[in-house]
Amino acid sequence: MKWSQNVSLSGYNTLACPSSAQYLAECYTLSDLRETFAFARANKLRVTVLGGGSNVIMPVQMSGIVLLNRLPGVAFKPLPDGQVLLQAGAGEVWDNLVRLSVQRGLRGIENLILIPGRVGAAPIQNIGAYGAELSDTLLSVEIYDPASDDCRTLSLADCQLGYRDSIFKTAVGREWVITGITLTLSPNRPLVLEYADLRQRWEQEEGAQNHPQAVARVVERLRRAKLPDPADIPNAGSFFKNPVVDHDVVAQLRLGYPELVAYPVLASDPALASDPPIQTPPERLKWKLAAGWLIDKAGWKGRMDNGVGCHERQALVLVNPGHRPADEVLAFATRLQADVKARFGVDLEPEPVLLGETETK
Ligand code: FAD
Ligand code: EPU
Repeated sequence: MKWSQNVSLSGYNTLACPSSAQYLAECYTLSDLRETFAFARANKLRVTVLGGGSNVIMPVQMSGIVLLNRLPGVAFKPLPDGQVLLQAGAGEVWDNLVRLSVQRGLRGIENLILIPGRVGAAPIQNIGAYGAELSDTLLSVEIYDPASDDCRTLSLADCQLGYRDSIFKTAVGREWVITGITLTLSPNRPLVLEYADLRQRWEQEEGAQNHPQAVARVVERLRRAKLPDPADIPNAGSFFKNPVVDHDVVAQLRLGYPELVAYPVLASDPALASDPPIQTPPERLKWKLAAGWLIDKAGWKGRMDNGVGCHERQALVLVNPGHRPADEVLAFATRLQADVKARFGVDLEPEPVLLGETETK
């Protein structure tokens, strides 16, 4: 356990918003967590849990305690049927977990290579990329509930994972601290190559391979070509979620923009859940719009206003090379949202968590 007071958090958020914390508690064990929450209760301080700070927008002053979750541990446990359980502490670096898994020839998370951040945050928004999501392999999540001082294990179903969503974003789940996760990996499940960019590059570069390491290599190249490294250009990845809209919205937009990028997704209607989209009547389909395409089409790609802007190779990524404070980043985002709404009638919802009143544990 390491305590510090009046600490700058500029190095603890990849968007590089200037920020500072009254207290910073680096927690390595469950008893460190308990001690931190006991101190918070005794002194009526709020606690904000942080992993790698790659999906947050930090205000200038974080009141109370910022808890850095650094709980360690990685264990691979073979099962009699050939599958392998991967148990990891919340404080491990996610990308290391992917690399250790593919080195062992294990499949299931290779498409999720190079996603920044710590293991404990992975279930929060059900991290996803290149056709895979955490929910494809997640078996369970261990949590510490400060209200009861208890630890519990949640099943995959308990976690209510969706597109960039989970129970950990609800009023009840926001109170919990994730302490570890368990994944089920396999040496022989099929590689996931459906994502258009991935499939195309796979066929050009690695088509003869049948190894998760080859998939990880292609994804890594795709990501490095498009996404800015926060160490060079501060950012928090996609700043907005891809909007999910009804069929009639897509039909209307296609009248003006026949080249609109939109993918069918299954509606949450359980009656549709088992239907492949192709068999579902089009008017009952939900569609995911590419927010990056909308922003690009609206002319914002590469635009920079007073040190905050849209990345020149990926319009969905807002960048903060000027290390501007959160309110200036949010003001830029609000202008962008208003323009996209005016042009396309579509609402963009931010993906990173705005730390503040509601994001306390
Ligand atoms: P943080 O930013 O520290 O925290 C995020 C939220 O989780 C906060 O609300 C925090 O309070 C909460 N939290 C963190 N740890 C815990 C815990 N142990 N218990 C309870 N609450 C906790 N995301 C994707 O899904 N796909 C991508 O392809 C992707 N690409 C990215 C690329 C770049 C360049 C960047 C900068 C980000 C990208 N992201 C992506 C977003 C981000 O990496 C993920 O959301 C990641 O899981 C965040 O991890 P973190 O440890 O940095 O979380
Ligand atoms: N596009 C443009 N212009 C742009 C950006 C994108 O026209 O400036 C178009 C692309 O040509 C493509 C489509 O939009 O047709 C989708 O682009 P891309 O494949 O880059 O993916 P994305 O939808 O922008 C999502 C995730 C990423 C994830 C990638 C790969 C969200 C909000 N973002 O981005 O996740 O890495 O797919 O799967 O779902 C993150 O969450 O932080 C993140 C980076």
